Amino acid sequence: MKRIAVLTSGGDAPGMNAAIRAVVRSAAFYGLESVGVYRGYDGLVEADFVPLDSKSVRNILAQGGTMLKSARSQAFRTPEGRATAAANLAAQGIDGLVVIGGDGTFTGAHKLFEEHQVPVVGIPGTIDNDLYGTDYTIGYDTASNTVVESIDKIRDTANSHNRLFLVEVMGRDAGFIALSSGLATGAISIVLPERNTTIEELQAAIDQGAERKKTSNIVVVAEGNRLGTPFELADALKKHNPDLDVKVTILGHIQRGGSPSMLDRVNASRLGVAAVEALLNGKSDVMVGIVSGQLAHTHLPMAILNKASLDEDLLRIARILSI
Ligand code: F6P
Repeated sequence: MKRIAVLTSGGDAPGMNAAIRAVVRSAAFYGLESVGVYRGYDGLVEADFVPLDSKSVRNILAQGGTMLKSARSQAFRTPEGRATAAANLAAQGIDGLVVIGGDGTFTGAHKLFEEHQVPVVGIPGTIDNDLYGTDYTIGYDTASNTVVESIDKIRDTANSHNRLFLVEVMGRDAGFIALSSGLATGAISIVLPERNTTIEELQAAIDQGAERKKTSNIVVVAEGNRLGTPFELADALKKHNPDLDVKVTILGHIQRGGSPSMLDRVNASRLGVAAVEALLNGKSDVMVGIVSGQLAHTHLPMAILNKASLDEDLLRIARILSI
């Protein structure tokens, strides 16, 4: 192996730059050349490459976003697009590819390996933390901290006005950000995609808070929940109790930005080095992850097919402490 490429794909996440830096610097350490691919798989199909060395990744460790840009490529979803991408890699003499992203990114990487035998290794990079085979995805810790910081601020104003706030957080169809941030901010209820919360349960939690003379209530609503949007939930709650002073906050893309936390920087550095070492050791079609503090390799089809599961105990603790 002489030359490897690295790309970021799907939603950007804080810590992706730290992972790029780790890939490029560890490649240099082992005597490999690195090439960056701009705009995810779109850049692979269009041969949008940039040579990278240790200097080109200076001062990106603390930066959010991704210096390589990201995209959700349509062209790469077609067999023709993947054939062009493989040909572009071969033309550049690239004999290994590191992809940083989520399950969509890994699906593409697996197909590239299966159809064109390109050695690929995935690094989990998404704020959603929804990947099987790792306890943490890069960006999840920073995004959760951003949510906690935001809800703490919302709590100040909620307290001052005796208000109920429904705060929508990201996570696509997974509730990791909602559960951790709800627990960390003392939410009265957390509406998760993984649970069938009913409007009656939500009302009961709020009524109970009122009985206990709570001066503010926070409900964390995961965007992928099955009960409804926070606006729909607010309407339903107001129907039940017209006196309820309820506000909705959608945190949105603020959750994706910002300088990565210490944990995201450390994990990104560790996984970036692990990805290069995996390629050098002849491993391919795998995702590198961290499970119970240890480095783990998961076959990409396993990482794609299986769902990461929420920590049931955190849910139990959140319920006990929300009274
Ligand atoms: O996967 C990361 C994520 O931020 C999800 O939490 C969210 O559902 C989605 O991406 C938003 O995507 P976009 O930035 O394309 O609107």
